Amino acid sequence: MNRMKVDLDRRHDRSYEIVIGQDALDRAGIMLTQGGWARRYFIITDSHVSALYGSRIREQFSAVDPNIGIIAFPAGEESKNIHTAIRVAEELLGLGADRESGLIALGGGVVGDLAGFVASTFMRGLPCIQIPTTLLAQVDSSIGGKTAVDLPMGKNLVGTFSQPKMVFIDLSFLETLPPREFANGLAEILKYGIIDDLSLFQELRDGAGRLQQRDMERLESVVTCSCRIKKRIVEMDENEKGVRRFLNFGHTIGHALEAVSGYAMAHGEAVSIGMAAATRLSERMNYLSGPEAESVLSLIRTLGLPHRIPQELSSDSILACLRVDKKRSGDRVNFILLKSLGVPFVNGGVPQALVAEVVEELKG
Ligand SMILES: NC(=O)c1ccc[n+]([C@@H]2O[C@H](COP(=O)([O-])OP(=O)(O)OC[C@H]3O[C@@H](n4cnc5c(N)ncnc54)[C@H](O)[C@@H]3O)[C@@H](O)[C@H]2O)c1
Repeated sequence: MNRMKVDLDRRHDRSYEIVIGQDALDRAGIMLTQGGWARRYFIITDSHVSALYGSRIREQFSAVDPNIGIIAFPAGEESKNIHTAIRVAEELLGLGADRESGLIALGGGVVGDLAGFVASTFMRGLPCIQIPTTLLAQVDSSIGGKTAVDLPMGKNLVGTFSQPKMVFIDLSFLETLPPREFANGLAEILKYGIIDDLSLFQELRDGAGRLQQRDMERLESVVTCSCRIKKRIVEMDENEKGVRRFLNFGHTIGHALEAVSGYAMAHGEAVSIGMAAATRLSERMNYLSGPEAESVLSLIRTLGLPHRIPQELSSDSILACLRVDKKRSGDRVNFILLKSLGVPFVNGGVPQALVAEVVEELKG
């Protein structure tokens, strides 16, 4: 069992602990009681996770509240909208939630973002506990307090910064995760290795086979390392004005690919191709050496992650989408590029023609 603290602001007691282990949930009930954040808790989850884990979780929390309420909404990004948030809020009221209640977000990033959003707005804010069940949520979305719902015009356009009270990462949830979702999480772990930690990068390279077989010891090691990186970046830049933007490595082109595919492409798949694109851009602009660029591209392949832009996605649409990206400032599209492995930086001056060339190259 690994424990670490996200140290934000001691005066306001907003710091919180991340507990990571193969049986982290066993401790959850007692730690919630000790935390004393709420008088009653409600579990927010999605239909898949509820079917797989609803009864185990109810049992796990029976000591905290024998009649703990579970609210489940249909699984999938399509549910991450304001209508679901309102429905969840109304169900909470129906179940008797009040200002002394707390929410437990049990699920992937969709549940974490939506439950976090409801928690931060319901009755002007309730405490939220994150129990992430996908690899992506365990290493990324459950930590750092970004909550959101999507609008028809784009993802995550309405949301808050609101930190959880605690994050329980139980690796045993990963046993039932579909391969595509597992790969999504691996892409985010690789991102940490590329932008921050050469030893994680090497660990991924050396242990790729065991990781793909979901070896629990390997997973515990890379998940713990990823959480440590994410928490350190959040501690330095909670509201994403500076270094936290480095976490968007691969996301500029990634978001465009997701949008142009009509969200048929998963976030991690798009980020993986986006990381290949950002690596190529870094090399073509003479920041990153050829061998370093090749080592990134080769690890993307070794981990079985996508690195080619599907032919059917129109290059014009991808480039048009980049021009309306959230990470744009003024007329400039900001890319996170690499000076070398572990040294990212924000570059708003990537020539459009070069972006177009790299997009074509990745389609080849
Ligand atoms: N807040 C942040 O900082 C942040 C960071 C990255 C991504 N996100 C958001 O996260 C979302 C993507 O998260 P995701 O990839 O976890 O997707 P998801 O929440 O949709 O989960 C993917 C699928 O896996 C299922 N699932 C979850 N846990 C499972 C388990 N243990 N076993 C079997 N199936 C399981 C879910 O029901 C769902 O069908 C996006 O909305 C993205 O915007 C947020």
